[in-house]
Amino acid sequence: MTNAYIAGTGFYVPPRVVTNDDLRTVYGLDTTHEWIVKRSGIEARRYSDEGTATSDLALEASKHALEDAGLTPRDLDLIVYASLSPDVGFPGGGVYLQQKLGLCDGADAKFVPALDVRNQCSGFLYGLGTATSMIEAGVYKNILLVGAELHSAALDWTTRGRSIASLFGDGAGAVVLRATDEDRGVRGWWLGADGRFADVLSQKIWDLKKRPFMPVNEHGVGQVEPLMMYAQMDGKLVFRHAVERMIGALFTAYSAKGLTHDDIDYFLFHQANLRINQYVAEQLGIPEHKLLSNIQSYGNTTAATIPILLAETARSGKLKRGMKIAMVAFGSGFTWGSAILDW
Ligand code: ACO
Repeated sequence: MTNAYIAGTGFYVPPRVVTNDDLRTVYGLDTTHEWIVKRSGIEARRYSDEGTATSDLALEASKHALEDAGLTPRDLDLIVYASLSPDVGFPGGGVYLQQKLGLCDGADAKFVPALDVRNQCSGFLYGLGTATSMIEAGVYKNILLVGAELHSAALDWTTRGRSIASLFGDGAGAVVLRATDEDRGVRGWWLGADGRFADVLSQKIWDLKKRPFMPVNEHGVGQVEPLMMYAQMDGKLVFRHAVERMIGALFTAYSAKGLTHDDIDYFLFHQANLRINQYVAEQLGIPEHKLLSNIQSYGNTTAATIPILLAETARSGKLKRGMKIAMVAFGSGFTWGSAILDW
């Protein structure tokens, strides 16, 4: 049987570090370091400079992942690009990344398909399931899977937006999935969604039910009111459902594969809030040393959190061949997922 394994990982975060105190002193956010750390565990995040696109972050992460896999962009058969913050409304970010990777250049241009995934914090796991299935089916051999987000362009640093503005940061993570006949790689993936909660965490920008689809001023220029322009969230409801769904997603994986916590070497949870992850781990009795975290430094980078955490962990040398990894995510939609991998 053909398996899909992660042959290379990479990540990129912009160099500008924004601490919790910077949010207050530079961005004027009515908050404190203590409030943010107590509620979320976040100490800092990275922001991009104006002129940077999400696909630029994705490009850097992708280059690292390809190099780590010993491949070039021309070896790819497919790009899967997960983001809730694409460069523009449409097209999706995958085609911008394809172009930036040089795949459209020269006589040997390779016009590989570019698939965009729109599942927010669960985007990486939805992409992993899609890419793995295509490899196992024998359709493709080498797939670049990227999670990339640029949140800093659309945060509301007024008191109205502070509970969201304090959580999110920019960054990208990428993996190269390859086909192998060896007994390793992605062992299973499980996804879910509950559309009843679609509006609980959303950023609407426009409403196509309306004519015009956003209010216009007397010059015909579109006007987006703050409630539409910025993400809105019922934080407490998200917190509660995140805990329930993440525990459920992990148990779905365990029961499908006959596993317990003891079989797992590392848990890579979506980095939305350290308190959510610690609570899930406590409820389940997962030992602290198995729960990996980097939200303290990067905040919530949505589709990018798991691949950034994976790439950092791989780079640190912690991951050894044969180790078992559990990934779990929950986010806007609501959507969720889990995956089990043998490294
Ligand atoms: N600094 C200071 N005070 C703040 C801040 C801030 N950054 N943000 C909110 N507050 C205030 C509120 O205005 C409110 O004040 P009030 O009582 O005077 O009205 C008070 O703190 C409590 O606000 P809540 O929103 O009820 O605070 P809560 O304890 O629920 O914590 C938080 C908010 C951290 C967002 C929490 O609900 C949470 O973590 N929820 C999960 C959110 C999440 O993880 N989302 C992302 C997951 S999905 C994805 O990644 C897309």
